[in-house]
Amino acid sequence: MSAAPVSEKILILDFGSQYTQVIARRIRECGVYSEIVPFHTKASAIAKLKPSGIILSGGPASVYAKKAPQVDTKIYSLGLPVLGICYGMQLIAHGLGGKVERSTEREYGPGHLKADRSCALFHKLPASLEVWNSHGDKITKLPTGFKPLGKTENSPHAVIGDTKRHIYGLQFHPEVVHTPRGGEILANFVHRICGCKSSWTMGSFIERTCEDIRNQVGDAKVILGLSGGVDSSVAAVLLHKAIGDNLTCIFVDNGLLRAGEADAVKKLFAGEFRIRMQTVHAADQFLKKLKGVTDPERKRKIIGNEFIKVFEAAARDLKKSDPGHYRFLAQGTLYPDVIESVSISGNPAALIKSHHNVGGLPERMKFELVEPLRQLFKDEVRNVGAELGLSKEIIHRQPFPGPGLAVRILGDITAERLRIVREADSIVLEEMKASGWYYKVWQSFAVLLPVRSVGVMGDERTYEYTIALRIVTSHDGMTADWVRVPYDLLAKISSRIINEVNGANRVCYDISTKPPATIEWE
Ligand code: XMP
Repeated sequence: MSAAPVSEKILILDFGSQYTQVIARRIRECGVYSEIVPFHTKASAIAKLKPSGIILSGGPASVYAKKAPQVDTKIYSLGLPVLGICYGMQLIAHGLGGKVERSTEREYGPGHLKADRSCALFHKLPASLEVWNSHGDKITKLPTGFKPLGKTENSPHAVIGDTKRHIYGLQFHPEVVHTPRGGEILANFVHRICGCKSSWTMGSFIERTCEDIRNQVGDAKVILGLSGGVDSSVAAVLLHKAIGDNLTCIFVDNGLLRAGEADAVKKLFAGEFRIRMQTVHAADQFLKKLKGVTDPERKRKIIGNEFIKVFEAAARDLKKSDPGHYRFLAQGTLYPDVIESVSISGNPAALIKSHHNVGGLPERMKFELVEPLRQLFKDEVRNVGAELGLSKEIIHRQPFPGPGLAVRILGDITAERLRIVREADSIVLEEMKASGWYYKVWQSFAVLLPVRSVGVMGDERTYEYTIALRIVTSHDGMTADWVRVPYDLLAKISSRIINEVNGANRVCYDISTKPPATIEWE
């Protein structure tokens, strides 16, 4: 699907900073659309994209290193405002005739900026600002036309600018939370220096994207694999708004879902939103294939393969029912999945993969793809969902892995173990919600360990399974820490599981961080 035209955009050249995506999000929070492109994008290609301004990101390299990523210096002659951040600023100095040298003291962590308030970047900001530094190089000679516009304890050139050509550099990172007024500095750049208005709103996105979808698919029909997760749910409601009954969602009940999940999805999407939806009841098929399988990777493979088979069969039936019309497959691909990450970056984008992103299906079944969310970051998807009337329960729900409860039962998957983990999971969910902790954490769930231990219940000896409780915080699933929830909450969850779930007599709390542990146990 072609990207919907957006009237104004800021281009971010990625030099491999771990914060490049954060810059893009901050710009969008200012109401201005932003896109990330690799650092080696030619000035001519940049000009064709018609940006209102360019940001050069930070990066791990030193500008004087042999293989340092360089920028096409013709970008400085495009007549566009440029803002270099950290490495980006040093590139500007280096590329326009200044001098950059290794600093004797690496500046890392908090610093105090004395800003030149006459500079448009600091409009309506105080002269003294807290900023976050992370760099080892410093500018020792400014290029012609540039002047210092701010200094920190260690750096007389913490902010530089050529106010005639609208080229600026910041030694610190305005995009991180440790630079509390950094968002306003970026807003000043995009609004006051680049002249952008605040036209990137989720309302305008919905309108434009609906039109785009209609233009792309015309009278043809679209199939969407609905998982009940945030992305596919928002994609479903958005597509339905655009093409109504020409959208059919396929929901696969693989028997590995949480309690009541299949019914809740049906009630919401088919019932409330009146979306055409087919549920494929395939639990037996999945469980048969998983019988006796204990290896986590094999479990995942089997589930992924079965999913494709079931989905393919359902899609084929739909195609047969209306030949020629079902030409499109929709996917909830997000922006971090499509950013061309640069090799120096180790960019963590898109590392959480879902087998619900039915990989390979479009080509195999000769579908064309519709990806209405491919311009959006996750927080924007949530905002679109809210605008479209989806409840907080859906748009802020915790991630649930594609292979479902199968990776939360260690060892063999049986109907009995599924029941136990499902019941325990329901209790965790209920108590997390009741205590207000559910929305404060990344994930909270129960894992069944195939370990039996002795207990006493009344006068009887028991010999039953152990439930591990996993409650973690995380920003993106790449790293995680266990949550210091109140003991009382742990006590309540534990006592409810032991009292209410037949087959479990012991609860442990998982206090491992990721890395080295993972969030899921398999
Ligand atoms: P791990 O266990 O690797 O999980 O620390 C990181 C995040 O990814 C989720 N996860 C998955 N999500 N399909 C998914 O859609 C999967 O196969 C899958 N495996 C893990 C996990 O729940 C956590 O949020």
